[in-house]
Amino acid sequence: MTAKQKTFVMVKPDGVHRSLVGEVISRLEGRGLKLVALKMMQIDRNLAQKHYSAHTDKPFFSSLIEYITSGPVVAMVWEGPHAVRAVRALMGSTDPLEANPGSIRGDYALDIEKNLVHGADSPESAEREISLFFADDEIMCRE
Ligand code: RTP
Ligand code: MG
Repeated sequence: MTAKQKTFVMVKPDGVHRSLVGEVISRLEGRGLKLVALKMMQIDRNLAQKHYSAHTDKPFFSSLIEYITSGPVVAMVWEGPHAVRAVRALMGSTDPLEANPGSIRGDYALDIEKNLVHGADSPESAEREISLFFADDEIMCRE
């Protein structure tokens, strides 16, 4: 049996604004992943800078921080076999123009910044991001 893995997922401000939270959840649930934590929140600059610390030196960093703090997001933890890879595949490429039709970004986004959804890119990132956004007792045990 494949071991369960947890990953961090976020519906970004444009996804919340466009009422696509349910669509994102539905696609992940439909694939067989289990939702184990969820909160709607406004990210402050401090948390945004920590979350995107890998991109501090990128030219788009300040714009990325402005955008991710511009409105409410829905932060979630999902669990399942190979959850990190499974979510990344469901999301599609970073640039929605490169994302395959059928993926979330390929179906609902056009802008590389307003690309609707975030998913941790490795098990290590997932662990780091989950602990940034959730306390241990906010994560449910399912099955
Ligand atoms: P994310 O972290 O948000 O899930 O996206 P990702 O892994 O697919 O892409 P990443 O390389 O981590 O970039 C983080 C976010 O920065 C914005 N970005 N803008 N203008 C640009 O060239 C550019 N490149 C990246 C995107 O919003 C991307 O999701
Ligand atoms: Mg990333």
